[in-house]
Amino acid sequence: MSKRVAVIGAGPSGLAQLRAFQSAAKKGADIPEIVCFEKQDNWGGLWNYTWRTGLDEYGEPVHCSMYRYLWSNGPKEGLEFADYSFEEHFGKQIASYPPRAVLFDYIQGRVEKADVRKWIKFRTPVRNVEWDAAAAKFNVTSHDLINDKVTTEAFDNVVCCSGHFSTPNVPHFDGLDRFNGRVLHAHDFRDAVEFKDKDILIIGTSYSAEDIGSQCWKYGAKSITVSHRTAAMGYDWPDNWQEVPLLTKVDGNTCTFKDGTTKDVDAIILCTGYQHYFPFMAEDLKLHTANRLATADLYKGVAFVHNPALFYIGMQDQWFTFNMFDAQAWWARDVIMGRIALPDKAAMQADVEDRVTREDANEDDYACIRYQGDYVKELIAETDYPSFDVDGANEAFFQWKKHKKQNIMTFRNNSYKSVITGTMAPAHHTPWKDALDDSLESYLEN
Ligand SMILES: Cc1cc2nc3c(=O)[nH]c(=O)nc-3n(C[C@H](O)[C@H](O)[C@H](O)COP(=O)(O)OP(=O)(O)OC[C@H]3O[C@@H](n4cnc5c(N)ncnc54)[C@H](O)[C@@H]3O)c2cc1C
Ligand SMILES: NC(=O)c1ccc[n+]([C@@H]2O[C@H](COP(=O)([O-])OP(=O)(O)OC[C@H]3O[C@@H](n4cnc5c(N)ncnc54)[C@H](OP(=O)(O)O)[C@@H]3O)[C@@H](O)[C@H]2O)c1
Repeated sequence: MSKRVAVIGAGPSGLAQLRAFQSAAKKGADIPEIVCFEKQDNWGGLWNYTWRTGLDEYGEPVHCSMYRYLWSNGPKEGLEFADYSFEEHFGKQIASYPPRAVLFDYIQGRVEKADVRKWIKFRTPVRNVEWDAAAAKFNVTSHDLINDKVTTEAFDNVVCCSGHFSTPNVPHFDGLDRFNGRVLHAHDFRDAVEFKDKDILIIGTSYSAEDIGSQCWKYGAKSITVSHRTAAMGYDWPDNWQEVPLLTKVDGNTCTFKDGTTKDVDAIILCTGYQHYFPFMAEDLKLHTANRLATADLYKGVAFVHNPALFYIGMQDQWFTFNMFDAQAWWARDVIMGRIALPDKAAMQADVEDRVTREDANEDDYACIRYQGDYVKELIAETDYPSFDVDGANEAFFQWKKHKKQNIMTFRNNSYKSVITGTMAPAHHTPWKDALDDSLESYLEN
């Protein structure tokens, strides 16, 4: 095939795209030329941990938002690849909430087997993407950081897989500039041990707030105070953990909240989410969306309605992750290879509106999980991605939510059944709160 396809990013979404094309080639299809641009020196996206924060050694913004001791916050049975099970990778079934290094190893195993590393240009951020209407091609400008060389190449399609949990959303609170402790965003959080014996304040109530607070608790913080804008998380927290209304001002070390109460703290961690940020995209190609299940402007959640030669993978808020990125990547591949035809623009926009309306009608998290599960089913029904028991994966998420409600500090001790191999995960050898070593070797000791 004479087409050329640019993939931006070699995280789980970009790697899903590479694997989708490699899988078609393996079945004998004539695939396009694939060039994947990755700004880091290795693949894995957020799962590629670095101690660095701020700018890296080339002056590029550090992509990593993960931290030491991070364990999966959802059961692995909800994200297992349908074409590469945990048992195939590890040679045995493993416990349900793997630490980062274990999931990194798993992601890497599939793409090493597929031999797609040769398609990736590492240390090569994409600087600019423009559409040349006359040539009906994208001009993609990238920067080879090692040789300090900027190049522009033409591509028929672009698949943007640059992630959306890396550029922090950083609100200001009155007095923060005079706070006598450390202030940081979750994106720059690296090691809970730093906060041992400290009183910490967390702003936000979503996964980062819950998990960074839990890490700090596990590694010995003196107290954790979590401040909410909309609603408290409402779990049955340990004794040294309290939930308070939104921070209104900071004076020295004293934080005042909306209900007038105060708390003296040593550190403030802003767990206030991330921005969808695509500075390299020309304005007419840039995705503007909130972090939600039905993204704006993406037909089937993938094809950019204003120029459907451009695809965005993984831009939704995420219950499903790796297997959803696969479903999207297989679908984008089939559009690019002419196996799936796109309708006209009005029909694509109507599809987006329909998804938004249906998402808005979801009454609770359980409905949202089903909604995203149905979306995964819809896409895999249109391609040759191996079908799997999506309802079974939904069920793992339902159980997960129930276990969190029962005890937020023990939910990771539970096990679930693989929807790919049908085997039950073993219990981990050590309860999460006592397992201070998050290495792959330690986790696999079962
Ligand atoms: C703290 C944290 C914990 C998480 N934990 C879990 C979890 O436990 N389970 C789970 O399923 N999900 C988790 N997630 C969700 C996470 O979004 C997905 O697991 C997954 O990493 C998303 O993959 P991605 O490829 O879409 O994006 P990313 O992983 O962000 O990868 C994007 C890649 O694009 C590259 N890139 C960006 N811009 C450019 C550019 N201009 N040029 C070239 N390359 C570029 C980046 O370097 C990166 O390698 C977590 C997210 C965060 C922030
Ligand atoms: N161990 C793990 O696996 C792990 C750990 C951490 C994160 N993650 C993943 O990381 C992703 C991002 O999660 P996230 O928690 O960082 O982001 P998020 O889900 O987008 O949540 C953002 C939070 O910030 C709050 N917020 C935003 N602006 C605010 C403001 N101006 N003032 C006060 N509060 C504000 C929001 O409050 P409102 O509710 O009021 O809007 C919300 O609680 C998720 O996919 C999650 O699964 C995983």
